[in-house]
Amino acid sequence: MDTESYVLDVVEVVEETADAHSIVLRVPDELAELFSYRPGQFLTVAVPSDQTGIVARCYSLSSAPGDEAGHQITVKRTPDGYASNWICDNLRAGDTLRVLPPSGIFSPKDLDADLLLFGAGSGITPVMSILKTALRRGSGRIVLFYANRDEASVIFRAELQALQEAHPDRFTLVHWLESVQGLPSQDQLARFASYFTSFTAFVCGPGPFMKAATSALKGLEFPRERRHQEKFVSLGGNPFGDVEEMRAAEATIAEADDHEDTDAPALGGPVALEVELDGEHYAFDDYDGDKPVLQFLEDKGVPAPFSCREGNCSACACVVLEGEVRMLHNDVLDEDDLADGIRLACQSLPLTEKLKITYNG
Ligand code: FES
Repeated sequence: MDTESYVLDVVEVVEETADAHSIVLRVPDELAELFSYRPGQFLTVAVPSDQTGIVARCYSLSSAPGDEAGHQITVKRTPDGYASNWICDNLRAGDTLRVLPPSGIFSPKDLDADLLLFGAGSGITPVMSILKTALRRGSGRIVLFYANRDEASVIFRAELQALQEAHPDRFTLVHWLESVQGLPSQDQLARFASYFTSFTAFVCGPGPFMKAATSALKGLEFPRERRHQEKFVSLGGNPFGDVEEMRAAEATIAEADDHEDTDAPALGGPVALEVELDGEHYAFDDYDGDKPVLQFLEDKGVPAPFSCREGNCSACACVVLEGEVRMLHNDVLDEDDLADGIRLACQSLPLTEKLKITYNG
């Protein structure tokens, strides 16, 4: 049995640059609610592979919620990147693509806030979605620092220019070209950001760029709640595979970890679990705490978000409001995330008899 994946029609493929394609997907009316998304979220995509059957990858949506054209992801070829090259080489209008519903936590809570956006290369993708949405629905000022290798590799160049012309009072765009200015250093990024220290920052791009920009923001004492970064990861597992098979594997992992983790107190009885998700409130009193929260919620038919199920994508991220959990595995949340109470539901086992989590954070 497959997990809850969906096959969507590819209605258009746009060649954004020589090595980046946007794929526009049509979401049928009956899936509209399930596929509603916040700007900055991503889709998990199944790419066919001769060797492994399927390769799963997360690609940010570059469209804005409500865009009539459809849901658009933008994929840039990476050297030796099997999935990105397969998509750019093979996908055409009229084809189909198998995906999981949108997920991710890289999204502004307040669209009226002043936003300081940092995008580099294909890291512009979620930033573009945030920018378009905030311009359309919000009221704050928006500054985008956009770094690229050279002029030819600038994705959405014309669209960004049009947005700038349409919103000269609200939107400031600064291009940075490595071919002209070299790689932006932490000092240079800090100098730039120092003019906007009251803004809420979002950073997405290759690892070194994210590290430099995030360190610059930390140095300027941007508080944690105004500093967000998106981590791009390759999924090691296959979220499109057989559910039972995956659960057996998860159980084995859980068992192995249980043996290692002697500090974790054992729960004597059932856990009272409360969950907030998409405006709904769920409460359960028959959770033994013997399986990860995500798995329990799925068993109960709760449409909780997920992608990799392995602790390396953050699609299942939730905030613990009450109680405590321990995670079996975590490849994606950093210390700041953990301090904010963010946990991965696919890896979380309860440590307390009462547990309240929210996905609305
Ligand atoms: Fe990927 Fe939980 S589903 S970290």
